[in-house]
Amino acid sequence: MRLLVSAGPTREMIDAVRYLSNLSSGRLGYAVAAAAAARDHEVHLVSGPVALSPPRGIRVTHVVSAQEMHAAIREAWSDVDALVMTAAVADYRPARRFDGKLKKSEGPLILELARNPDILKSLAPIKGDRIVVGFALEVQNAEAEARRKLATKGMDVLVLNGPDNLGSETARCRFLTESGFESPLQVTKAALAELLIDRVEALASDKGRRGP
Ligand code: CTP
Repeated sequence: MRLLVSAGPTREMIDAVRYLSNLSSGRLGYAVAAAAAARDHEVHLVSGPVALSPPRGIRVTHVVSAQEMHAAIREAWSDVDALVMTAAVADYRPARRFDGKLKKSEGPLILELARNPDILKSLAPIKGDRIVVGFALEVQNAEAEARRKLATKGMDVLVLNGPDNLGSETARCRFLTESGFESPLQVTKAALAELLIDRVEALASDKGRRGP
């Protein structure tokens, strides 16, 4: 299979030296890319800024902002069979990027933020028979929000996380598919990566059996 994996945070520049971002380490996405490559899938990793070395033998596109990640994923889209969207994409960016370094002045600074594209949502209408795995990090109304995202973002599988997984070595999560929630898991990110590839392979062989 040709597998596209997104990983890490995005970085939204305020000026030449400052940015908005989040705590994503990229570890899960890199583990998914490594697990898929080890099973001889063709892997394209689209990575935000992280302190990790990509697995050998795969294609890597480095991006910084959500808009760049969006463009890289859309460009790759026609050549892939599945997307595992682990990236923690920033939903907002500074409405304008200041030239050079912003000088402080007396009083507060109000930063206006503009919405970033929702990458998965924008791909849903052109999903075709691709398999899409997405994630949701929910604090309130987790189950209802996860169900809403599964439907609106065109996901086959949604992995529901709590906020304590960001940057951590292990993942506490639950899989949601159109058949409902599965039992909770507490596994390392490497183990979760293997489970995700198992799932993508199973969905692909189901789709293959059902035909186009
Ligand atoms: N995602 C995306 N584009 C964005 C934000 C998120 O494609 N601009 C993807 C993430 O990679 C993840 C899934 O959507 O697979 C859910 O991300 P999450 O941040 O939980 O969803 P949001 O819709 O941004 O969250 P909320 O509406 O709760 O703010």
